[in-house]
Amino acid sequence: MSIRDELPVFPRHVGIIMDGNGRWAKKRGLPRSAGHVAGAKVFKKIALYAAEIGIPCLTVYAFSTENWSRPPEEVSALMRLFKTYLQDAIDNFSDRDICIRFLGDSSVFPKELRELETYIARNSAGRKGMTLNIAMNYGGRAEITRAVRSLAQAVEAGNLRPDDIDEAMISNHLYTAGEPDPDLIIRPSGEKRISNFLLWQSAYAEFVYNDILWPDYTTKDLDDALREYARRSRRFGGVK
Ligand code: FPP
Repeated sequence: MSIRDELPVFPRHVGIIMDGNGRWAKKRGLPRSAGHVAGAKVFKKIALYAAEIGIPCLTVYAFSTENWSRPPEEVSALMRLFKTYLQDAIDNFSDRDICIRFLGDSSVFPKELRELETYIARNSAGRKGMTLNIAMNYGGRAEITRAVRSLAQAVEAGNLRPDDIDEAMISNHLYTAGEPDPDLIIRPSGEKRISNFLLWQSAYAEFVYNDILWPDYTTKDLDDALREYARRSRRFGGVK
């Protein structure tokens, strides 16, 4: 029996801030990049498990718009890792009914990485099992700014009246257009911040924090987070 059958409610969309790679490496006297290598293995394990247990949509935060300020050797190590895992996804995710989307501005990535993103997004589009959003060069504020700019352009072109702009229209101009908002956001590693992740979409998300560093995160930890979510009383601003 999977965890999904065990629980009375199950999230339609789970977001994960994969945090703690650097601290995990430091504790072992290893370079930070070693923490990202370990974190990438866990990313793959958790993504495949999420698909297996029937989470309809999973978003992982892989690289934020602020992460460019890290030392150049760490940024390069991350770019290499993304390339490796995207290549791996072509081989190992293609027979799993997973639709992969990328959230964020990929225009600044190296050409090879951009091409991998385009290839994967195109080839996996329409798969119905699980949507896996990989947020890379993603920031919630940048995403909202992009949506506002696009709506302002439509107004300027005479194709949209300001009064017709509503919340649904804004949602439909975000990278996550067409997806349900996250019900559950998980942040391991002990930090209790949203860090510019899915700012608009997380308006009513339940948060689960814990002290586990991402490279130590297991499928059992995800089960525990799903159990915790199922115990929460969601009121969406109303009363129950
Ligand atoms: C945050 O931990 C983690 C990141 C900025 C990178 C996340 C990337 C991965 C898990 C690699 C694989 C991802 C894919 C999609 C292949 P941190 O470095 O801020 O840790 P710290 O807070 O302990 O320093």
